[in-house]
Amino acid sequence: MLTGKRILLIISGGIAAYKSLDLIRRLRERGASVVPVMTKAAEEFVTPLSVSALAGVEVHRDLFDLTKEADMGHIQLSRVADLLVVAPATADLMAKMAQGRADDLASTLLLATDTPVLVAPAMNVRMWDHAATQRNIATLKQDGVRFVGPNEGDMACGEFGPGRMSEPLEIVAAIEGALGEGPLTGKRVLVTSGPTHEPIDPVRYIANRSSGAQGTAIASALRDLGAEVVFVTGPADAARPEGVEVIEVESARDMRAAVIGALPCDAGIFAAAVADWRVASASDSKIKKQNGQLPTLEFAENPDILAEVSQMETGRPGLVVGFAAETDDVVANATAKRLRKGCDWIVANDVSPETGIMGGSENAVVLISDAGAESWPRMGKDAVAERLVQKLAKALG
Ligand code: CTP
Repeated sequence: MLTGKRILLIISGGIAAYKSLDLIRRLRERGASVVPVMTKAAEEFVTPLSVSALAGVEVHRDLFDLTKEADMGHIQLSRVADLLVVAPATADLMAKMAQGRADDLASTLLLATDTPVLVAPAMNVRMWDHAATQRNIATLKQDGVRFVGPNEGDMACGEFGPGRMSEPLEIVAAIEGALGEGPLTGKRVLVTSGPTHEPIDPVRYIANRSSGAQGTAIASALRDLGAEVVFVTGPADAARPEGVEVIEVESARDMRAAVIGALPCDAGIFAAAVADWRVASASDSKIKKQNGQLPTLEFAENPDILAEVSQMETGRPGLVVGFAAETDDVVANATAKRLRKGCDWIVANDVSPETGIMGGSENAVVLISDAGAESWPRMGKDAVAERLVQKLAKALG
């Protein structure tokens, strides 16, 4: 429920603005009050009259409306809310936010606020994929702005791909999560992510191609649904998620210690690409060349963190989710891996180089549980994370 919560809803100019009418209705049904703000372009898609009729209050539209300035200045307007929601958020408005511009009421409110901001992007797939938009999103995420969606599917412009605004109920769930009222509020979830580095000597190490992008997206999606997240990460390229507890580790053994230390948890998601082997006795000093004589490295097996946690007799998380990175017979290998390790679900993916998945921005996964194997279409790693976390929220009930 959102009883007594005050949402400042900024509607910018996209065809998805019609869904914001339903969003207002859903929010009010849950006890929230909605203060709507529309950009000029938004008025081309929905009328201020419909918006104010559904919100039950007048729409704010103009930065220089002196009556309202005397009544409630734009600075105050941005601060009295519990959350600022931008739905739909156009590429243009996100660009302004990323640059800190303030040339209309919506962008000024977003710059003047110290209240958390949730953005539901909506745009054509080419605009979404454009390097400039992706750069702006990365900046906004670093600034602590939360995102919900976009979803993938048929678009009003006739194209297919990511760019459709999330459905009103998905946005409501993200709002509840941002306000500490989400389906995972009160749940503590552990996520492992990234590669591990196994030292050879003080300057060299063995690693793998994991970027940490999938684990990071999962941690953010869990946080958005209200979970308390412990994020144990190896040295990954992906920027660390905001608003979660981050524990940085190097090797598999460090990761194991951090994971055991983070328990008890309600669920554990093991997305890290943990090195299976380490160098048995890493040298304390740099190994030098020796007249053409090659060094020999002896390996020792690393602890299998997922298997250990899955098989704990006491303190096992209620739901344990592993990942299976495979290059052949993906479903058969991952099904066997689930049973061998003892986890509840396994998210299997094909990491053959031609898929571009490891280190890339997309993923095509098969979710394996005791109910069987469920293939998901190829989608962005953020979308995989959202879908996985929604499923986890249902399972944890
Ligand atoms: N994993 C782990 N600790 C390890 C190795 C893997 O926790 N030492 C976890 C990973 O985080 C992932 C799952 O186990 O969730 C599967 O990892 P994967 O590398 O695919 O499996 P392996 O254990 O290496 O099995 P195989 O060698 O048969 O592929």
